[in-house]
Amino acid sequence: MRCWLWWLVISVTLLAGCGTGDENLFGKELYDRSCAACHGVDGSGGIGNEIGAGSNTDLNLTDEQIAGVITVGPGNMPGFSRLQPEQVDSLVEYVRSLAAP
Ligand code: HEC
Repeated sequence: MRCWLWWLVISVTLLAGCGTGDENLFGKELYDRSCAACHGVDGSGGIGNEIGAGSNTDLNLTDEQIAGVITVGPGNMPGFSRLQPEQVDSLVEYVRSLAAP
């Protein structure tokens, strides 16, 4: 990779660091910070729908759809478009783990 590209990568990373403080969080930590207030620490719901075992998310949504919900934010849910794809993946995985028996 050319040198300037590295600089680009580094500055983008630094700029992203000025965000809301969740850029280095994944899975449970990210969920607890960004999602639990509305969906409950255990996915049992609240302001947001239940997303744990037996929920619509568990039964009817594909991983891709969950990732889409997180990024876009349907209805009254805010979108999390600033998250990196790896972070979204880690959330999908964590949401699935909430639904695991
Ligand atoms: C401010 C409250 C709020 C926050 C924060 C929030 N959600 Fe939501 N979420 C909602 C609401 C409200 C809905 C229902 C949206 C609709 O369809 O009208 C929803 C829907 C969903 C759904 C689809 C549920 C279904 O049955 O279709 C999933 C999955 C989901 N949220 C996951 C997440 C994850 C993961 C996060 C954290 C990145 C998150 N949400 C953060 C309020 C929130």
